[in-house]
Amino acid sequence: MTSHIVIKNRIKNFNKVIKVSSDKSISIRSVLLASQAIGTSKISNLLESEDVINALKTIKKLGINYRKINNTYHIYGFGLNGFNFKKNITLNAGNSGTLARLILGLLVKSKNKVKVIGDKSLSKRDFSRVIKPLRLFGVNINSKKNLMPINLLGTDFLRPIKYLENIGSAQVKSCLILSALNTPGITVINSKKSRNHTELMLKFLKYPIKVKKNKNFDKISIQGLQQFKAFDYNVPGDISSASFFIVLTLLSKGSSLTIKDVNINPSRIGVITILNRMGAKIQFKKKRLYNGEPIANIYIQSRDILKAVNCPSKFNSSAIDEFLIIFLVAAKANGISRFRDLGEMNKKESKRLDLGIKFLRYVGIKVQRNRDNIKIYGNPNLILSKSFEMKNFLKDHRIFFLSCIAALTLGGKWRINDKDSIKTSFPDFLKILKSIGAEINW
Ligand code: S3P
Repeated sequence: MTSHIVIKNRIKNFNKVIKVSSDKSISIRSVLLASQAIGTSKISNLLESEDVINALKTIKKLGINYRKINNTYHIYGFGLNGFNFKKNITLNAGNSGTLARLILGLLVKSKNKVKVIGDKSLSKRDFSRVIKPLRLFGVNINSKKNLMPINLLGTDFLRPIKYLENIGSAQVKSCLILSALNTPGITVINSKKSRNHTELMLKFLKYPIKVKKNKNFDKISIQGLQQFKAFDYNVPGDISSASFFIVLTLLSKGSSLTIKDVNINPSRIGVITILNRMGAKIQFKKKRLYNGEPIANIYIQSRDILKAVNCPSKFNSSAIDEFLIIFLVAAKANGISRFRDLGEMNKKESKRLDLGIKFLRYVGIKVQRNRDNIKIYGNPNLILSKSFEMKNFLKDHRIFFLSCIAALTLGGKWRINDKDSIKTSFPDFLKILKSIGAEINW
């Protein structure tokens, strides 16, 4: 049974203060690192979405208990490689590429066989990017055509590696950093810049990790086999979730919004830089540090005139999950926007580059594509009145969010399928939309 929603009206102007869901990347990392710490870690504001719940279920299956006490998750770790499971087991990462790739890194010493599986979307994603370097550590890891299921058996004879990570994938980088924790000696990863939450969290835990920042790459050195103590952590809001509300405000005449306590790590805010280049004037207020991560309240006002952007590929990694919603702004901007080298978008929960282009054409926007480069011919007067239906997007949460924001800003009568996809990253998405005045029926 697919669930769907109906949107028939554009949102009326609003002036509100909201909070969005907690950061998914940081939530998953905090659970996985707590599972390796000695003692009881306490994590507050943990995102309670399916991807993170799957991370909790995964550590539980590996022998690490947790409890929720007064809105704080207590995770009872036994130190590095403190997993305790007797038989060969299967772990289900659900929809989460981050969980699937990071957990492989924590299993490099496993004495029993582990099989990692996932849902239909995750089962289409390529794992060669982690299988190849994990084999260099000495791990026994196999899969057919680099797809799920992934079968892994760890080893006591791990060797540190020197590795060039040149995709710019934080999932690959983090998998290797976690593998290095259990590996004797110093592992060195030269990694094309990508979100650095794993490095920041390990620094916050005083783990011996060194990061030398170069222009496009970071050289990360990790000393293996060092124990760390349990910790308290407070997870900030997710800029990826916030981006849908930022664009909703930007495109809704006479509106303004404050989004409180959002993570503004420089490796994540490509969306802000790009939208500001288009004339958005988004501001960060009350900037501060939470557990080594920068946080702010984000203030945004609608803009009557937005201009096209010529987006350099150096922003691709820091806006990788936000391009879908940036494309919607390009559709309403004055002029032709250009984006390049976006092939990685097709390796996400669905083929987002293909679907994003299809979506823009569906709402009447001209798009030219040359391999992974696209030109979007903006139309500031774009207003819809016909009926639209969104389906077959592999239940990709971000395609669902994009469709809702398009319906609420462009008009038209929309039926958007797979409402449950919001549970992946942002279970309160529809509730918050309604609280600022959106009319949504289901
Ligand atoms: C993530 C990294 C990104 C991003 C994903 C979450 C992470 O993927 O698209 O949603 O938490 O490390 P890649 O690192 O594969 O680009």
